[in-house]
Amino acid sequence: MSYFIKNLSGEVTKRKPIWFMRQAGRYLPEYREIRKDVPNFLSLVYNPDLASEVTLQPLRRFDLDAAILFSDILVIPDALGQHVRFVKGEGPKLNALKAKQEVDQLIFDGEVLMPVMETIKKTRAALSPDKSLIGFAGSPWTVACYMVDGHGKTDFPKARAMMVDNPDLFNQIINKVKQGTIDYLKMQVDAGVNALQLFDSWAGLLSDDNFQTYVINPTADIVAALNAYAPHIPIIGFVKDSKDYLLSYAQKTGVNAIGLSQDLDLDWVNENIPDTIPVQGNLDPQLLLAGGTKMLEAAERICDSFSHRPHIFNLGHGIIKETPIDHVLELVELIRSKEEK
Ligand code: CP3
Repeated sequence: MSYFIKNLSGEVTKRKPIWFMRQAGRYLPEYREIRKDVPNFLSLVYNPDLASEVTLQPLRRFDLDAAILFSDILVIPDALGQHVRFVKGEGPKLNALKAKQEVDQLIFDGEVLMPVMETIKKTRAALSPDKSLIGFAGSPWTVACYMVDGHGKTDFPKARAMMVDNPDLFNQIINKVKQGTIDYLKMQVDAGVNALQLFDSWAGLLSDDNFQTYVINPTADIVAALNAYAPHIPIIGFVKDSKDYLLSYAQKTGVNAIGLSQDLDLDWVNENIPDTIPVQGNLDPQLLLAGGTKMLEAAERICDSFSHRPHIFNLGHGIIKETPIDHVLELVELIRSKEEK
């Protein structure tokens, strides 16, 4: 069993598993080289040869324990028939959902996602057995934010308004995303992923009852469906900026591990999240961008604070695209050198 899976199963190991959110991407020149020749981001995601190559790129440079499938959380609206495009410098753009008639027309078509399954098969075949392949999806709330607002440049006022003004319509969207996500993740398991991560990047916009209804409940349904289908596949839940609800999320959703965003104090985590729950994180990506002593000291503190509990080293959010590769090398080296002591 790989060190990554061991930690997700609750074991503490001498070698600390490491991977980074957004480890494949624009900070790597070899990614930019491939990206410059494809007309748009989704055509890269749906090209199994290129997507598999991009998934493997960070593992050639760094001593990482896991590769994360190169795809995006917005392939779910795409497979539901909502047109998704990525505009250079502006991020994702979708035709914002407003009317019931538009929502009624959303029907999940798994065929759209078959190229992603090819990517998983190719990547798994190319990886050595000690490296894990992580599949993923966005959580329904975060994906619905993009579907209702149509872009991600604001804090999703339209999604938050629809949640209050037209809860029936909003629930219909959440349920369609949830069901599509369950189907998509089952397909990923069949294609060969070793673990799954659910990204709820915008969970921090919700509180109290809304956090329960739109973050915890749909996540619990997804986890239950996947556990029934593939009990051996661990699931990591990453809920960003949700300190007040983190313990409740960990206990009620059934995820095997929780991803910690960088706002969480290490002592707070140890005092509030039982040691039996594996954690992943949480170096501030800004520190990786800056590099140097501050980064190394912060990384040491994370390793030391979590040395007694199952822990996977990661960032608190994705790698920033201006990050120098040397900083990533230095960080991985530091963590590996601590294991030898
Ligand atoms: O290396 C990896 O982490 C795997 C691939 C991955 C991507 N997106 C590739 C990508 C993963 C896991 C994601 C998740 C994702 N996508 C999230 C959740 C995590 C988070 O960052 O909070 C969200 C919210 C999205 C939606 C999304 N995709 C946005 C807002 C953007 C544009 C912003 C940007 O950074 O440009 C994307 C595009 C995207 N997804 C890129 C990559 C490498 C950059 C696109 C490019 O190359 O032009």
